[in-house]
Amino acid sequence: MSEITGAAVEKYLYGLLPKRDPVLEEMERRARQRDIPIVGPAVGRLLYQYAQLVGARRIFEMGSAIGYSTLWLARAAGPEAMVYYTDGDPKNAEEAQGYFERAGLRSRIQVLVGNSLELINRVEGEFDLIFNDVDKHYYPEAFRLAVPRLRRGGLFITDNVFWSGRVTRPAPKLRGDRDTRAIQEFNRLLYASPDLWTTLIPLRDGLAVCLKL
Ligand SMILES: C[S@@+](CC[C@H](N)C(=O)[O-])C[C@H]1O[C@@H](n2cnc3c(N)ncnc32)[C@H](O)[C@@H]1O
Repeated sequence: MSEITGAAVEKYLYGLLPKRDPVLEEMERRARQRDIPIVGPAVGRLLYQYAQLVGARRIFEMGSAIGYSTLWLARAAGPEAMVYYTDGDPKNAEEAQGYFERAGLRSRIQVLVGNSLELINRVEGEFDLIFNDVDKHYYPEAFRLAVPRLRRGGLFITDNVFWSGRVTRPAPKLRGDRDTRAIQEFNRLLYASPDLWTTLIPLRDGLAVCLKL
């Protein structure tokens, strides 16, 4: 849940969301039980909507965990899609593959284990959409690697850009907090980039949606 919009609005919003299919609902339960920070259904729907809006087929995801956001993206992208799942933890990847099988989406998802920032250089070609959800201190590097890999009209979407509001803290209060400093730098980079048209959306923990110009 978000600390950005306040509890009442959050409760209202999440109360409106339609039921998910059994696989997504099981993933949500598992994530709750084991404290896995997935994007959740409101952001899942946003990913689905944007992927459909730009007709995304080739999608690269940085930081996929148990594959919850991957599943939303793979559904949106359709049977011709190739979605690259990437995560540094092989146990996450194994669990994710089980969900992809059960959802009938295994053939459109390539599972890659390792550092997403290295893996993106190992996959050739342009992407229609890149979703970034790696550890936060990597965000500026993720920006530098991802933006050149998008086609014109493609989308670079990033989670946690408000970081529970910590991004509003002034520099002197952030000396030991490299994650928040990295997100602040990242948000500045997005708006300063002549290659991107950026909007920060205060949904859940904040999303950056950037159109490649
Ligand atoms: C917030 S979780 C991802 C949640 C997922 N996007 C979802 O909503 O379902 C972040 C994941 O990124 C992985 N991760 C963090 N930094 C990484 C990196 N540099 N390379 C690969 N995986 C990374 C972690 O192992 C963790 O599983």
